[in-house]
Amino acid sequence: MTNNKNTSGSRPLYGMFTDIPPRYDLINRLITWGMDKNWRQKAALSCLAFRPQKVLDLCCGTGDLAINIAYLADYPVEIRGMDYSQPMLDIARSKASTLLGKNINFVSGEASKMPFPDEFFDCVGISFAFRNLTYKNPLAASHLAEIVRVLKKDGHCVIAESSQPANGFIRALYHFYMRQYVARIGGWLSGNKAAYRYLGDSAAKFYSPAELSQLLIQNGLQKADYQPLFFGAAGIYSAKK
Ligand SMILES: C[S@@+](CC[C@H](N)C(=O)[O-])C[C@H]1O[C@@H](n2cnc3c(N)ncnc32)[C@H](O)[C@@H]1O
Repeated sequence: MTNNKNTSGSRPLYGMFTDIPPRYDLINRLITWGMDKNWRQKAALSCLAFRPQKVLDLCCGTGDLAINIAYLADYPVEIRGMDYSQPMLDIARSKASTLLGKNINFVSGEASKMPFPDEFFDCVGISFAFRNLTYKNPLAASHLAEIVRVLKKDGHCVIAESSQPANGFIRALYHFYMRQYVARIGGWLSGNKAAYRYLGDSAAKFYSPAELSQLLIQNGLQKADYQPLFFGAAGIYSAKK
């Protein structure tokens, strides 16, 4: 089950993610009222709950999940962040430069063809990029296959992502908020209206927790545990290979 309507090219979102980095973190803070910081911390703790030795922050953007894992780990852990946007990676590297004595590296790579051997990671964490990898993305199946390939047997995939509130009234409010406020404020601050129109629209139409769990199972992972965040506007999934 992949949502592949309306596809365009093999890297449909690439231009968007090389355009928005300078104000990316600021816009995240504004559209989530600061909650996204706490959500990434929770996702980092979910990754660390399995005491992984090697962790990948897939589609790391400006590196916050990887950096949170480095801060919160109370044992040596090898952390890689991977993204295809060079401007995002530049910001991630600059933010991580203050972390001393941590094994954290950011590499350029494409999620459909990752530069890592089979069964390399104990944990693959993905914060707010799984929707980009699967929603109307022609390469969705390859992205999922690659996640499974680079994970060790019994390794975990942890996904923090926008979700669908179970309550119909809250869900309607959330869709209105994403399509009106988020699309407008993000477009205005980033200068890229299409990027934030895409965010608002894709978040409103994205999978429910049950659908996303089903997608993971169909693609080689086991049933996902789900932790809703802020009335289900977002959530953290954790699925074992
Ligand atoms: C919405 S941002 C999320 C960034 C970060 N994980 C966070 O928590 O803020 C999505 C990121 O995924 C990256 N990305 C999207 N598709 C990708 C792909 N196919 N391969 C590698 N990176 C990709 C983008 O460049 C962008 O940095």
